[in-house]
Amino acid sequence: MKKFLLGTNWKMNKTLVQGLAYSETLITIIGQHPQFEFFIIPPYTHLWKIKETIDVHKSPLKLGAQNMHEQDFGQFTGEISPLMLAEIGVDIVELGHSERRQYFNETDEAVNRKALAALKHGFTPLICIGEQQADKDYDVSKEMLAKQLKIALTDVPADAIGHFWIAYEPVWAIGVGGTPAATPYVEEIHDFLRRVLIDRYGPSGQAVPLLFGGSVNINNARDYAQLANVDGLFIGRSAWEPDLFEAIMVAL
Ligand code: G3P
Repeated sequence: MKKFLLGTNWKMNKTLVQGLAYSETLITIIGQHPQFEFFIIPPYTHLWKIKETIDVHKSPLKLGAQNMHEQDFGQFTGEISPLMLAEIGVDIVELGHSERRQYFNETDEAVNRKALAALKHGFTPLICIGEQQADKDYDVSKEMLAKQLKIALTDVPADAIGHFWIAYEPVWAIGVGGTPAATPYVEEIHDFLRRVLIDRYGPSGQAVPLLFGGSVNINNARDYAQLANVDGLFIGRSAWEPDLFEAIMVAL
C-alpha cells in the first residue's frame, strides 16, 4: 500500500542551526504518523548534517535537494552535481520549481535533462509543473501543463515509474500573496494530469505519484488530500515550523 506523501521545501530559509533543530523535532513527530511518507528539501549547505541526523535516528524521513546540475562535473561555477549529492545520500532531487523557472531561467528541456540524470544516479526526481495566472485567465492551463509534463518526461521510460514524482503547483497559488486554489480546480487538474500520464505510459501511469502544492495550509490540506488523484502534499510556509506541520498531519 503506497503511503500518502507529505513534504516541505524550505527554499532559501533556515540557518543550519535552525534546520538541524527542525529536523530533530520533525523526526520525533513523524514517528507518531507512520501512515505518511515524509520528506524535507533543505538548502544544499544543510544536507550533510541533516543526513547524519536522519541516519543517527534511523528515521524514514527522506531528504531532497532543491536543484541539481545535469552533468557529473565540469566548469559550472556555483552548481552542484549528481555525484556530489550521491555522496551525501540524498533521496530526492526537486526539479523545475516555479521559482527556478522564473528567476533562474530553468526550461522544460533543462528539467528533462536533469530528470534523466537524476534517475541515472538513483535519485527520485520531484518534477514541479504549474501554470501562470495568465494561462489560467486565457483558459490554457491544461495545454501549458501537458507541455511541461510531456517535455519533462521525454525519454523517461515506463520502468522508471515509481522512481519519479510530479508536483502540480499553480504559480498563482505559491508563496506570500498566493491565492489558495479551489478544491474542484485542483481535482480537475489532477484528473487531467493523470490522463496525460496514462496516455503516455498506459495503465501504469496510474502509479505515478501526483503531489499538490501552493498555499497548502491547515484549512485546506484535508480537502486537497482527499482528492482521488492527489497522492501527496508539497508544502512551503505552513510546514516550516514543526508544530504547524504536525497540525496538518493531524488534520489529515
Ligand atoms: O515547493 C512548495 C512551495 O512552492 C509551496 O509554497 O509557501 O505556497 O506552501 P507555499
